[in-house]
Formats: sequence, C-alpha cells, structure tokens
Amino acid sequence: MSFRIQPAPVARPNRCQLFGPGSRPALFEKMAASAADVVNLDLEDSVAPNDKDTAREAIIDATHSVDWNTKALSIRINGLDTPYWYKDVVDVLERGSDRIDLIMIPKVGYAEDLYAVDALVTAIERAKGRKKPIGFEIIIETAAGAQNVDAIAQSTPRLQSMSFGVADYAASMGMQVTGIGGTQAGYDMLADGEPDAERATFPADPWHYPIVRMVAACRQYGILPVDGPFGDFSDDAAFRAQARRSAILGCVGKWAIHPKQVALANEVFTPSDDIVSRARAILAAMDEAEKAGQGAAVLDGKLIDIASARQAKVVVDQIELIQGNG
Ligand code: COA
Ligand code: MG
Repeated sequence: MSFRIQPAPVARPNRCQLFGPGSRPALFEKMAASAADVVNLDLEDSVAPNDKDTAREAIIDATHSVDWNTKALSIRINGLDTPYWYKDVVDVLERGSDRIDLIMIPKVGYAEDLYAVDALVTAIERAKGRKKPIGFEIIIETAAGAQNVDAIAQSTPRLQSMSFGVADYAASMGMQVTGIGGTQAGYDMLADGEPDAERATFPADPWHYPIVRMVAACRQYGILPVDGPFGDFSDDAAFRAQARRSAILGCVGKWAIHPKQVALANEVFTPSDDIVSRARAILAAMDEAEKAGQGAAVLDGKLIDIASARQAKVVVDQIELIQGNG
C-alpha cells in the first residue's frame, strides 16, 4: 500500500439527488418535502432556452422563500459551452441566499473548466462576503470528461461529488443508444455454441467502464461517486437493477428524475439489514481473532481476514452516516 492515505469524502448522505426544472417552481416545495438527501434545481437541460432567465429568478427566490430543511441544496448551472453559465453563477451567488450548499457543473471536460468556475465563485464570495463556501458537484458525461476524470478529480478542493450522466455521455461517444441508462437492447454476450444453434444471450452493462473509471478517480481523491439519471420512471425493477450495480461498484447514490424514484434510490443505497448484520458479525469475529493473536478466522464456513474487516467497516460507516451517528 502506498504511504499516501486515501482521503475521506465529505461526510453527508447522498443516496438520492432529486431534480426539478427551474422553470417549474410549483415543484420546489414538493422537492423540499421529499425524502431525497440532495435537491438539484435545474437551469440546464430541463429548461428551454427562452425560459433560462425566468427559471434563474425563480430559483433565486426559492433559495430565500422555501424551507429546504436538512437537504443539501444544489443548483445545476448551464455548461461552459453556453452563453448562460456566467450569469447563472453571478446572479445565483450574488442574490441567492446563504442556504445554497452546492452548484452542479454539467459536461465538465477538463480540470481547467473547474478552475474557471472556481475563480468566478471565489471572486463573488469575496465581493459579497458570503460566509458559507460553495461546494461543487460535477457531471462526467462527455468523452473528454471520461478521459480526463483523474485530473478533474484533483482540480479544486470545492469538488464534493461527481455524477455519471448517461444520456449526454452516449451522445458524446456516438453510441447507438436512445434510452437514458440501464440495460440496452442488443448489448449482449452470445453463449458459445454451433453457429446455427439457438444460443442464449446475456445482457451486459454498457455503462460499466466509465462508471468504474469515475469511482476510482473519486475514491483516490476523496470525492463522492454518484450514478446519474434513469429515464424510464415507469420501470422500478430496471431502476433498482441499475442502482444495485452502481452501489456494488462503489457509488453512494443515484439521481431521481421523478419523485417515485426517491424511495427506490434510498432503498438501494441504504445498506440492507442483512449486509449490515453480516458486516457487524465480521467486525466482532475479527475482534476476537485479534485478541487470540490471529489475522484470519472462519465465519459461517467462510474465510475472513483483516481485509474483510475493512470491507465490513465501509458498510458500517455508511449505515452510521445515514442514521446520523457517524
Ligand atoms: N420533484 C418533485 N415533485 C414532482 C417532480 C419533481 N421533479 N415531478 C413531478 N412531481 C410531482 C407532480 O407535481 C405531481 O404532484 P401531485 O401529485 O401533487 O400533482 C406528482 O409528482 C406526479 O407527477 P407526474 O404527473 O407523474 O409528473 P409530471 O408529468 O408532472 O412530470 C417529469 C414528469 C419527468 C417531466 C418531471 O418529473 C420532471 O421534470 N422531472 C425532472 C426533470 C429534470 O430535472 N431533468 C434534469 C435532470 S436529468
Ligand atoms: Mg446531461
């Protein structure tokens, strides 16, 4: 192991991020009353170009007037390739309340993108005497973002989380795919066999590689990795399956683009009673082993050792953070 200790990410639950268009302020109170850990008020792709100014004003108002309770409050600005983003940052941070925790920057491709936004945010914070430093969330959703994810992860101490954005990623990569996330018809493994025989197919996961790349960059630099949107909000089973894959790969949460997805994300990203009991049993058994001067032990017929205790601690730390006793 390197002598460099892996930094811990910010200690707050991030199981579900609920999005709502800034152009639908009627949704804001409902978002605040939801069970999501993070709410993202959107100025980007759910807001039509002609509505950007009114959406921005509605969001600024809501930072003052809505009770966001204990939620992390985030505002998604427009991308750096648009004429809108500077005004999003300037207006929201000059006139928005101190309740704002985060801004989310979409389509980040280079570490320098975040340097530019950081410079602007820092100047506004100083000019306005804002007391609470603004954190950044970003979306990895372009070929450049996926390629440069390591440099992006180290670009600014403001960075708290990264989300993987399936739809824009698919477009940027030229993928022959129209769905927003999940299993894609045709992306299958074909079982071995005679060329003319009827053979089984096994659906594979086209998002596996970029998500794993993102999780590794996040974990190396102490950032929360988050799985992005799942478009088919009528298919709970498919949402759960995608979320479970991401949880198993190390993501801490997933977006909800409809309120019915909030409970699903919270369910999957809250470690189950079964895995928590198993993790506690491993820690107890390893405590006993240590007292007996041993590094390895047997629990329910399976080997456990000091690495098992590290795995178990991940689960126990997660549940304690979620339950507020971390
Ligand atoms: N947050 C909170 N509440 C929401 C909501 C949201 N994002 N979307 C819908 N609701 C509410 C509705 O107001 C309605 O409430 P009611 O029962 O009190 O009338 C209820 O949930 C059911 O809504 P429904 O009619 O199923 O949805 P809709 O047709 O109004 O809206 C979407 C569907 C997908 C357009 C909408 O959910 C949405 O805009 N989602 C976010 C999109 C987004 O932000 N995208 C950017 C990130 S990818
Ligand atoms: Mg996008």
